[in-house]
Amino acid sequence: MKKLVALMTVLALSVSLVACGAAKEDQPAANNNSEAPAKTESKSENAKKPLVWFNRQPSNSSTGELDMTALTFNDDTYYVGFDANQGAELQGTMVVDYLNAHADGIDRNGDGIIGYVLAIGDVGHNDSVARTRGVRKALGTGIEVDGAIDATPAGTNTDGSASVVKDAEITLGGKTYTVRELASQEMKNSAGATWDAATAGNAIGTWTATFGDQIDIVVSNNDGMGMSMFNAWAKDAKVPTFGYDANSDAVAAIAEGYGGTISQHADVQAYLTLRVLRNALDGVDIDTGIGTADAAGNQLTEGEDFVYNADQRSYYALNIAVTADNYTNFLDSTMVYSKVSNKVDSATKKVWLNIYNSSDNFLGSTYQPLLQNYDDLLNLDVEYIAGDGQTESNITNRLANPGEYDAFAINMVKTDNAASYMNILNQ
Ligand code: BGC
Ligand code: CA
Repeated sequence: MKKLVALMTVLALSVSLVACGAAKEDQPAANNNSEAPAKTESKSENAKKPLVWFNRQPSNSSTGELDMTALTFNDDTYYVGFDANQGAELQGTMVVDYLNAHADGIDRNGDGIIGYVLAIGDVGHNDSVARTRGVRKALGTGIEVDGAIDATPAGTNTDGSASVVKDAEITLGGKTYTVRELASQEMKNSAGATWDAATAGNAIGTWTATFGDQIDIVVSNNDGMGMSMFNAWAKDAKVPTFGYDANSDAVAAIAEGYGGTISQHADVQAYLTLRVLRNALDGVDIDTGIGTADAAGNQLTEGEDFVYNADQRSYYALNIAVTADNYTNFLDSTMVYSKVSNKVDSATKKVWLNIYNSSDNFLGSTYQPLLQNYDDLLNLDVEYIAGDGQTESNITNRLANPGEYDAFAINMVKTDNAASYMNILNQ
């Protein structure tokens, strides 16, 4: 097995070197030496096909640094996600706005401390890190390390002495309170799945047993975990819970006291995920149907719906806060975006697409249904592969025949693992 992996790595390396050299001038390799196996050429065809990474941006899970090798795999490679910093800031502001509007009675036990607990999705996922930072920043509990707020889970912080967060002060309705992150933890189950809703449901049980009515707010990196905590405890206890994703069930729960959520404009992301592939396959300008209207009249608004960062080869959807003020407009999270709801007139193409975890609430209840709506509109015949959220090979094993597909859309289990997909496409 080791030998095979080593061989594959060598092969992948040599093929990618060839690909690099050939990328600029689109001409056959000059050295027609007889050693080159004829096979190599047909195999590397897969390495030239359109590729989109989505939801989990290729990056170093410890430092967050983008994996530019993966993001520039070929000329038709892109990432589609959302603006993590803008969204994180929005989530923090949403919580603070809520506190200001509900100052009366927010300190449940009247001890002068606003206590909150925080469910963290995945410490190695840039979007999760950004949300933790955003909430700590807005509430003042963050501690800066090398110019960025520390996103490390605090564990339990009963007396405010944790080293990764600090007690802050907030004035609500003319009264000054201490704000304390009573507890936070990464919601990873024993098998290794992150953003795990069931783990969050258990954690809130432990936290309420420890802190009881010291908990005044519940915050979560996403709605899956947020709703799990809301249903297990916060709803009955009437403790506002804040999530992220604007999944339909979370939006509906706002009527029952869920504090609010952030829409990461999944309708825009799902569209972009397939649209960049469609454009690359059609050989048209990549902005077609995105910043520029296509023949069917599809067009997004740059700067309002999304931004594009050319250096990062990344499309980022923009976020919107969903609260008691506007939630009725967001009740169906699977509805296609009206601006890009027209069927295009292009030949059907085959796409291989995977979802890293079949039980991820956001991807399962919001993103995939949207993809399934757009694949019809874009005439893409998409094969959906569902992973277990833990093992990359469980997914890569099902990319055994890349030659059968025209394009690929990849949602990695771990953001450092782009190479395992690129190796397959390079063969
Ligand atoms: C979502 C989470 C989801 C994660 C999966 C995030 O963008 O907000 O709900 O679990 O993506 O990678
Ligand atoms: Ca209190």
